[in-house]
Amino acid sequence: MDCTGARSDFKYNDKYVDKEDAYRHSKWLSFMSKRLKLAKNLLKETGVVFISIDDNEVAQLKILCDEIFGENTFISQLVVVNNIAGRSDKEHIAQAHEYILIYEKTNQFNSNGLELKDEQLKDFKYNDITGRYRLQGLRKRGSNSRREDRPNLFYPIYFDKTSNKISTKENEFFDCHIIIPKLSDGSDGNWRWSKDTLEKKKDFIEVKLSNKKFEVFEKVYLELDGIKKTTKMKSYLIDSKYTTDFATSNFKKIINDISFTAPKSVELIKDLLLISTNSDSLLLDFFAGSGTTLHATMQLNLEDGGSRQCILVTNNENKIAEEICYERNKRVIKGYSNSKGEKVEGLKNNNFRYYITDFVGRDKTSKNKRKLTELATDMLCIKEDCFNSITNDQLQITKGIIRLFENDNIYMMIILEEALIENAVEIIKNLEKPVKVYIFSPGQYPFTDDFEEVLDKVELCALPEAIYKAYKAILPKKKVNEYGENIEDSEEIELEGK
Ligand SMILES: C[S@@+](CC[C@H](N)C(=O)[O-])C[C@H]1O[C@@H](n2cnc3c(N)ncnc32)[C@H](O)[C@@H]1O
Repeated sequence: MDCTGARSDFKYNDKYVDKEDAYRHSKWLSFMSKRLKLAKNLLKETGVVFISIDDNEVAQLKILCDEIFGENTFISQLVVVNNIAGRSDKEHIAQAHEYILIYEKTNQFNSNGLELKDEQLKDFKYNDITGRYRLQGLRKRGSNSRREDRPNLFYPIYFDKTSNKISTKENEFFDCHIIIPKLSDGSDGNWRWSKDTLEKKKDFIEVKLSNKKFEVFEKVYLELDGIKKTTKMKSYLIDSKYTTDFATSNFKKIINDISFTAPKSVELIKDLLLISTNSDSLLLDFFAGSGTTLHATMQLNLEDGGSRQCILVTNNENKIAEEICYERNKRVIKGYSNSKGEKVEGLKNNNFRYYITDFVGRDKTSKNKRKLTELATDMLCIKEDCFNSITNDQLQITKGIIRLFENDNIYMMIILEEALIENAVEIIKNLEKPVKVYIFSPGQYPFTDDFEEVLDKVELCALPEAIYKAYKAILPKKKVNEYGENIEDSEEIELEGK
C-alpha cells in the first residue's frame, strides 16, 4: 500500500490506561509506538502523517515521533482552536485548543497552498489585461531592509511618466523621475528585487504617486498562467468551521445521535487534505472513530474533481464502527433526510465496503490455512482494486480453490492450491482482459513454465511478504496417504469432475 497521507487521531483515554497508573505514559507510548512504526512503514516516500493530540500526551508524543520519524522530518505542531469560547471545566485556564503534529516520511513531501480567504481576496482590487491583481511595495521591509544590509539591492529606478515605463539604466529616457528606496526615517533602504530581475519583470511593476512621491509596486496577480494564488496554512487554526461545535452540529444533521458529540470538523480535515494530497492520493486513518476522514475525502473529491481513496481502520468501541462511522458515510454517499426533514443529495459517485478483521489461529491446521487464504483474498482485492467476484461453470468445479475477480481493466485470479494450475490455465484461455495471478504456495517457484500457453495475458504476482510469511507459518504438515502421496492433516483435495 502506498499512502500519501496518513492520519492518526488518538485522545488519551483513561478507560485504557488508569489516570493514577504510574506507568500510564509509558503504556500509552508503547501502544502508540507500535502503531506509528507500522504507519511509517506504510507511508509513501513523499507521504506525511497528521496526528491530533491534546495536552495529556503531546509532550510524550512529540518525543516519540522525533524518534520514529526523525527530528528533521518534523513539519509543524499546529494549534487547532476547537472551542473558541474555551472550556469552562478547567480550574485556571479555559482550554480552547488541541494540536496536530505533522511529520513527513522523508524530506520529499510537497505541500499545497490553501485558497485565499475573503479578506485576502479583497486586496486584489485592480485589473489589467493579464487579470486581477494586488499591489505589493517593491521596497524591502522588516529585517535586512537598510542599504548597508544588501548594497547591491540599492539602486535608482528611472521612471518616465509620459510613457509610464521604468528602467534601471540612467540614459534610457529623455526626461524621467529618479526613484530611490527610502526607509520611513528618510535613510536609504533597498529593493526586494535585483536590477536583473527588475529588468526581466518590468511588466509586473506599477508606479504610483502617493503623498507627492513616486512609489514602486509589484503587481501580484490572483491567477497567472492558469495557476491560482494560494496562501500557506498557518501554524494556528482559528475559525468557527474548525470547532467541535460546528463539527457536532453538522454531524447531527446526518445522524441525530445525541450521545455522540466529538467528531472532528470535516472542514478541518479537508484543509489538511488540501495542503497534503494530490487528486489521486491514498489516505489512511487508523484511528478513524466517526469516519470524518472519509467524509472529508469524498467532499474534497466532489469540490475539486479528485479521485482520492481512503482506508479507515477503527475499533468498535460503543459500536462506533457500525453505528457511527459506517452509518454516517453510507448516508453521505446515498443521501439522507437531515434533522429538519429536508432531503440531502448523496455523493453518489463514491462507493465503499467494510471488512471485519479477525484473528487466524497459529496452529498448523487446514482450517486455519483456509481462513487465512480467505482473509488474504479480501486484502488482495483491496490491493488490486478488483472486487467483482466471478463464478462460472469452470470455476465451480474448482470449489473455491481458484477465485476470479474483475474490474474494468483486469482480472485477478487467486489460486489456493498449486495442484490446480492446469485448471487455472484452461480458465484463463477464455478471458479477454489481462489477468493478474496470485498463487498460494509454500515455495517461491515462479510457475512461469506452467502458464506458458497464456503468458501473453498473464502477470504472475508475488504474494505480499506479510501474507506469504503468515501463510508459511500455519501451513499444515504434509501427511502421506496409503498410495505414498502427500495429503494435508485432515483432508484430501477433492475435485468434482476430476
Ligand atoms: C479521537 S477518535 C477519532 C476521531 C475521528 N478521527 C473522527 O472522525 O471523529 C479516536 C478513535 O480511535 C478509535 N480507537 C481507539 N483505539 C483503537 C485501536 N486500537 N485501533 C483502532 N481504533 C481505535 C476509537 O474508536 C476512537 O473513536
